[in-house]
Amino acid sequence: MNTMTMKEFDSVQREPRARAAAEVNVEEPFNVEEMFFSRTDTRGVIEAYNNIFIRVSGFSSEELKGAPHKLIRHSDMPKGVFWLLWNGLENGHPVGAYVKNKNKEGHYYWVFALVTPVEGGYLSMRIKPTSPQLALVEGLYKEIRKLELEQKLSAEESAKLILERLAGLGIHSYGAFQAHALHQEFEARRKALQMPAFSDLSNTETIAVTSELLRQELDQLADKFKSAEILTANMKIFAAKLAVGRATINEIAKNYDLMLNDIRNHLNTLVVPPVGTGIWDVPEELGAYFMICASHLMTEMCDTFEAHKCDVDGVDSDYENRVLIKLQKEYDKKSERAVAYGVQSAASIQRRAEFLRRMVLGLSTIRIACRVEAGMLRGKAKGLETIVSRLDVFHDEIEAHLEKIQHHVTTILLAADEHA
Ligand SMILES: Cc1cc2nc3c(=O)[nH]c(=O)nc-3n(C[C@H](O)[C@H](O)[C@H](O)COP(=O)(O)O)c2cc1C
Repeated sequence: MNTMTMKEFDSVQREPRARAAAEVNVEEPFNVEEMFFSRTDTRGVIEAYNNIFIRVSGFSSEELKGAPHKLIRHSDMPKGVFWLLWNGLENGHPVGAYVKNKNKEGHYYWVFALVTPVEGGYLSMRIKPTSPQLALVEGLYKEIRKLELEQKLSAEESAKLILERLAGLGIHSYGAFQAHALHQEFEARRKALQMPAFSDLSNTETIAVTSELLRQELDQLADKFKSAEILTANMKIFAAKLAVGRATINEIAKNYDLMLNDIRNHLNTLVVPPVGTGIWDVPEELGAYFMICASHLMTEMCDTFEAHKCDVDGVDSDYENRVLIKLQKEYDKKSERAVAYGVQSAASIQRRAEFLRRMVLGLSTIRIACRVEAGMLRGKAKGLETIVSRLDVFHDEIEAHLEKIQHHVTTILLAADEHA
């Protein structure tokens, strides 16, 4: 909070020396392959940038250096977005955001910015947003900005509204939104530039999509086991009416019940705990996308910067190069960790799915005992045959679920294997 106060103090005190012209509805072009960055101190005062930033922003190096970043703030931007940006940065998170900026001429340009804490401040790397997500975000920002002005919302209230709108779209945190958005932008850009798919990303995608299918399958299986209680209850009711064989049927029902209970408990260990809904909470697979995309983009940013060795007045390009490379390594490490997590959880799911299969086999043995008993009681056990055939249907359904589970687990393991 301390830095936030300093930033606010700085924003009030330090008006930019240079100013942009009045906003006009003209887009400042830049190419999809272009990437640019700026680095600020902890208060958002610009310290360094590359030549593309100079060209797009339209300001000279002299005007940019030492200016607060709000120099290029566009009035269409909801302040809630910047509240989220600073909240993330001050809590040590990288933040991805769509930002509409204005340049010196008052022209606008959209970027998808990835802002990260670095030594002594923050670094923002930007790409051109080209995914369909931008249109959605533009609409969202328009609505929020209108409400901000009409209802005189604070930046924090506006941020809450943004989070509410995202939740309405099924995205339960800003962390999840930025990961999803970065992934979308990364892929749209890759396709626009006709670059081949990155295998780490497509494997992660396979793991994520299949894990979701697996989760649904496990949920359905858990429901099925919940509803199986009725089968043993019927068995016990039936046994109570029997003159012969009551004890055996009762025993079978009791064993079946115990086994069902064990399976239900085991299934509970397979259920993935729900992800928190704090601003920066993010499901593992989305977190992995975010880190992998960030790592690839940072690699490209480093290569571009190195290749163009842009001599910008007032910017020490060797120093900036080192900052970029350090950040790239950080992203790389985090993306490797995210991938390793995916591989680990796939292996653990496989072990537990195997155990589940064995338990179901045990359950099936009890069912067979019940069928044998029904055969022995024959004429005296008409109702029991109906119960046994219901058990058969139940076991067939379970078997079908188990097969699907096995198929998903194998898909995940194959993708994880390619990763390793
Ligand atoms: C590294 C970094 C990059 C930033 N980039 C932008 C930017 O491109 N456009 C922008 O309007 N604000 C940017 N900001 C946020 C500004 O510092 C500022 O919070 C924002 O313009 C809103 O200004 P205000 O809080 O004074 O209203 C950036 C901040 C940091 C730390």
